[in-house]
Amino acid sequence: MENTFDHLGQKIFEKVDTIIFHDALDASLVVAADIANLIHARNQIGQNTVLGLATGSTPVRVYRELVRLHKEDGLSFKRVITFNLDEYYPMQPEELQSYVRFMNEYLFDHIDIPPENVHIPDGTLKRENVQDYCAEFERKIEEAGGLDVQLLGIGRTGHVGFNEPGSLKKTRTRLVTLDELTRADAAAAFFGEEQVPRRAITMGVGTILKSKKIYLMAWGEAKADIIKRTVEGEITDQIPATFLQEHENTLFVLDEAAASELTRRKTPWLVGPVKWDDKSIRKAVTWLSLQMGKPVLKLTDKDYNHNGMSDIVTDHGPAYNVNIRVFNQLQHTITGWPGGKPNADDSNRPERALPYPKKVLIFSPHPDDDVISMGGTMMRLAEHNHEVHVAYQTSGNLSVYDDEALRYADFVSQYSSHPDEKKLYSSLLNSVNRKEPGGIDSELMLSIKTNIRQVEAKAACRYSGIPDSNIHFLNMPFYETGRAKKDDLTDKDYKLIEELIQKVQPHQIYAAGDLSDPHGTHRICWDAIRKTLHKFQNESWAKECNVWLYRGVWQDWDVSDIDMAVPLSPGERLKKRRAIFKHASQKDQPKYPGSMSREFWMIADERTIQTAKTYDKLGLAEYDSIEGFTKWKISNS
Ligand code: F6R
Repeated sequence: MENTFDHLGQKIFEKVDTIIFHDALDASLVVAADIANLIHARNQIGQNTVLGLATGSTPVRVYRELVRLHKEDGLSFKRVITFNLDEYYPMQPEELQSYVRFMNEYLFDHIDIPPENVHIPDGTLKRENVQDYCAEFERKIEEAGGLDVQLLGIGRTGHVGFNEPGSLKKTRTRLVTLDELTRADAAAAFFGEEQVPRRAITMGVGTILKSKKIYLMAWGEAKADIIKRTVEGEITDQIPATFLQEHENTLFVLDEAAASELTRRKTPWLVGPVKWDDKSIRKAVTWLSLQMGKPVLKLTDKDYNHNGMSDIVTDHGPAYNVNIRVFNQLQHTITGWPGGKPNADDSNRPERALPYPKKVLIFSPHPDDDVISMGGTMMRLAEHNHEVHVAYQTSGNLSVYDDEALRYADFVSQYSSHPDEKKLYSSLLNSVNRKEPGGIDSELMLSIKTNIRQVEAKAACRYSGIPDSNIHFLNMPFYETGRAKKDDLTDKDYKLIEELIQKVQPHQIYAAGDLSDPHGTHRICWDAIRKTLHKFQNESWAKECNVWLYRGVWQDWDVSDIDMAVPLSPGERLKKRRAIFKHASQKDQPKYPGSMSREFWMIADERTIQTAKTYDKLGLAEYDSIEGFTKWKISNS
């Protein structure tokens, strides 16, 4: 196959060819183009193309592009034969979570592939027939001439297909037991972990390795750790994806977030020459300080020289000068005045003093991200008399349990004299009983769940000092599918964001920058804000508006990326925790735990305490906890 990739990255640490793209979309377009080129070339000489396909969130944009190429460029799939990696077992093809349904929805229904060319492991088989079926599946791949290209995602366990830790290199298509972490990650799609099947049929590692070309794609911070271990670690059956290191034509295709733990990104000075600027020096020096276990101000020339950073001291040194410079930069990120301190010199503060008070617009993708991720800062802003608005982008109704909704309906039924309302509980109970496990909620149920989340968010806002009049529930339509799979953003979604921003014309915007939430909602929410801001970039208020990105639950900012650090006292952390508790429907057992085995308040506590500890280790003041933000320039949007 024609390789469209210009250069492959540094391979001192990396044991497999890896290419990093700015974002998942750019990367997906390139992979799709390569596949399309192959199909096109084969079509021209009348030969088949055999594709191994994956499901999950990773390949979605590749499929979307292939559909576009079919519709707009006439790319024909008549000579394409496909084999999917896996399917849950047991699973009926029409069920929401079935990979048959997934493939139809994302690809097969929109292209001209003959149905008999499509092969997806069958989740409906009787147990005693599975083994023969798997052998037949392998035989069919052979008969088709073997896989030309295999697309892979990677699970956080390091699985490819559903080859979980412990899968050996020579394994073939078979029935397997899913890892607990995989089941937790699938909980969103199944409306709760209990519903996730325990088993699956998957192609084996050996089956995958026989493919002529393999693309393993990974997007988002949640994959960064397993990518580092797969790309740079030793080959081990505990991370089955590491077997790909032995395949001669495998390419790892990553976005920046998934690549962020690789040595060439994390500590590029260990890989090769670095163009040192303020940002990279800060990153390197904070790393060095933490690595050496020494505060920044105690680092010596020798420390720099022994860690691949001699250039820094040669060009900007001696060490003490560099240390002071970085120390001051870090010091200047710390402020107890996130909205700016009026009547104070603001030349070294993250936020300007004037105007005061400011109009502040906090975007929260789900109804609790605001308090979880920046509850302390939100309270400070309100306390300092800024005009704080909070916009809840989605209803978050998907993460409320049925029994929670029933509880509220029961309450209403008991208090109401209206006959319809009296029946609310029983009719809701009926709809719950009629629902298939993992099925979609009724309209009524969804609206009750939306309302539950709204009253909780309001309670948390009131507790944090935000008046009801400044709370905005946008209920963006892209989220309202009743299932984990979301729609694309449409004009209606953009319009909601646009109108609010236009109305408030904020001096400060806060938005969620943790893009790795497992069902992609945060990423979509940020896209909507980013693109809207781009539209406004030439307006005078937008030029004066600072955008601060917070992270909270899924991953925290690296301390060297923090531009504003808001310290909380122990009392404030406790108060923030109470605001999080107002989201009672999310307590005890968040419905979409994904990686979350702990409650949100615990993670929020842990993250902010950890950030404070890191500042302390770097030699700055010792705080109880810190909420960190990075600054985003509207001109970047
Ligand atoms: C899917 C599959 C899995 C996924 C992996 C990543 O057919 O075989 O290995 O590729 O679990 O899933 P996402 O893409 O949803 O992060």
